[in-house]
Amino acid sequence: MKLTAALLSTILLLAGKYTPVPPSPQYGAGEVDSIYSIKIPAGFRDWRLISVAHEEGTLNDLRAILGNDIAIEAYRNGTRPFPDGAIIARLSWDYVSSDENNKVFGRRQSFVAGHPKNNQFIVKDSKEYALSGGWGFAQFNEGESVNVAVHATCFPCHQAVQSRDFVFTQYAR
Ligand code: HEC
Repeated sequence: MKLTAALLSTILLLAGKYTPVPPSPQYGAGEVDSIYSIKIPAGFRDWRLISVAHEEGTLNDLRAILGNDIAIEAYRNGTRPFPDGAIIARLSWDYVSSDENNKVFGRRQSFVAGHPKNNQFIVKDSKEYALSGGWGFAQFNEGESVNVAVHATCFPCHQAVQSRDFVFTQYAR
């Protein structure tokens, strides 16, 4: 069944999962997202690499997809659905041309990670997030959680890969 974003937020609201948080002046650990009550996981920047990606168009970013130990083990062993406790992080940066590198190469060919953009996380808890395939979804822009309307778009789109436990990224060998 495909849930519309509005329907999903209504269901989450009725299920008592919609817990708006007041805006906080602080960035970083401790921020809580607005639907799924997910905090920025401690130490996520040191997690192991699953893959990388580049989006063109209006997104125009570079991405790294990282997993905590439970997620990495599940990838390597092919365990699906992912076990409870698995967390996958998708970090993104502006996709920028590097003048410094291009000078060395003698032509414009080098693109690197620029300013950090948003970070997204999916957290597996089959009971807590039963309404959204067992995954809680969270996005933080510069450490600030995005609003309910944005979070309501996550699960409906990830349903496209329901057969892979709602996860798009494949492990890059
Ligand atoms: C329009 C469809 C769409 C929406 C909406 C969307 N995603 Fe995704 N997501 C994707 C695709 C496609 C990928 C794989 C490509 C990539 O990384 O850019 C992805 C990748 C991810 C990943 C890396 C793991 C994986 O599934 O590959 C995370 C984490 C993630 N999304 C979280 C979120 C969160 C949180 C939201 C809501 C704030 C969200 N997504 C909204 C399509 C979507």
